[in-house]
Amino acid sequence: MLFRSETDTEVIVQLVDYFVVNQNMTTKNAFLKVLDLISVDSSYAFVLVDRTTPDVLYVAKYKSPLLIGLGDGFNLVASDAIAMVKRTNNFMEIQDREMVIVTPTDVQVTDFAGNIQKPVTFKLDIDPTASDLGAYPFFMLKEMDEQPAVMHKIAQTYFVQDGELILDAKFLETMKQADKIYLVGAGTSYHAGLVGAKMFEQLTGIQAEAYIASEFAYDQPIMVKKPFFIFLTQSGETADSREVLVNVKKQGWPSLTITNVAKSTLSREADFTMLLHAGPEIAVASTKAYTAQIAVQAVLAKGLGEYLNNANAQNFDLRQQLGLVAVGMQTIIDSKEQISELANKYLVNSKNAFYIGRGTDWTVALEAALKLKEISYVQAEGFASGELKHGTIALIEDNTPVIGIITQQRTAALTRSNLHEVLARGASVITIALSSLAVPEDTFVLPDVDALLTPLLSVVPAQLLAYYTSLGKGLDVDKPRNLAKSVTVQ
Ligand code: G6P
Repeated sequence: MLFRSETDTEVIVQLVDYFVVNQNMTTKNAFLKVLDLISVDSSYAFVLVDRTTPDVLYVAKYKSPLLIGLGDGFNLVASDAIAMVKRTNNFMEIQDREMVIVTPTDVQVTDFAGNIQKPVTFKLDIDPTASDLGAYPFFMLKEMDEQPAVMHKIAQTYFVQDGELILDAKFLETMKQADKIYLVGAGTSYHAGLVGAKMFEQLTGIQAEAYIASEFAYDQPIMVKKPFFIFLTQSGETADSREVLVNVKKQGWPSLTITNVAKSTLSREADFTMLLHAGPEIAVASTKAYTAQIAVQAVLAKGLGEYLNNANAQNFDLRQQLGLVAVGMQTIIDSKEQISELANKYLVNSKNAFYIGRGTDWTVALEAALKLKEISYVQAEGFASGELKHGTIALIEDNTPVIGIITQQRTAALTRSNLHEVLARGASVITIALSSLAVPEDTFVLPDVDALLTPLLSVVPAQLLAYYTSLGKGLDVDKPRNLAKSVTVQ
């Protein structure tokens, strides 16, 4: 057979056409035949229309997300509920290896052998205006501004009954058995997991480690006897994370998904779900989902720690701290002007930039660098400040921007000494320091909060620096080149 296209989806349509024209098959049977021919190692989400019957959609998916939206006199197909909430809040799940025929008034689900399947439907309560831009120029700015409100929302949602933290007992009992917590995520969610691992260890005494999903899926370390998996995913649809979850389920290991999207694939497939309550996140660069993921992990670490009678957890007033964090975030957000000036002075015309810190501050440096590179295309690296002298310091030239994050008492002096080293080599140094550790020369001073929660504040100036650098370069902040909000391929 002659290939007329190198694009996979076009090849599929050609193949359906081939069976219809040459083997006299109906469109439905030709579609089924093609689905049967496609290797099960692949992933796909198809909506096929035969132009002679434009009111009929032939739909199938494998591993990739796809959802039916049910309306009155119309039906919809999309990869995500958010795309449909302006039209309906009723949805129908599609399972792998099912074929769905959708018309304006009917949805028929069968397996590949033609047996009728009973579909699962659900309602979602999403405010359709939450994904409107309003008066904002970009979603990223709106979403950064929403962070204090998200902190309040998380505190209100999880601290119920006179401010007491209530978590599902069955879930806590399962987690209690674990001898290690594995936190799995991609991109920004992985960075949130790095912060979470430290909180779990300090508040529960259980060993915890964060892993990059795409690495864990193919390079699994030696496992402990009783692992517990936490999947961190804003969208709940990331293919790399799902690949790990599929194997976790096969092994019978317990799992929790922390996600912003109720009923998303990873939420449906894990044993337990905790929601971020951050509202839809539209900008490709994740901001409020990162801070919400940290806050929800803190809620869980405290809840589990209390269940285990851990003194650190018992003495940690998280509810009050989240209130302080919200106020602190607002103070930083109100200093936008200053951050915009810094971005224009140091970053807009720079080829590269370094974020440095130690421990928790290093994990924020990784996220800060990711924010800057993904939307401003300035090559940025997050570095453990002690490692600079072992190679990377060779890259420091006159005016290379180096941003130091200083929020931990134990390492503050060490990071400052690393900053002196780069200053001596001509770097332009910007510091983001916690008030109680600040010196008069610091560029940006953060209000004091508990040492475990400082990432919730130190990341905000970094998010804003990235935003204003992108803006200063005249780029499309919300839709950076080559990137997607939800990555459903491995
Ligand atoms: C994409 C997005 C990132 C996000 C990552 C993981 O690469 O551009 O912003 O951090 O996917 O997404 P998830 O939905 O699993 O958090």
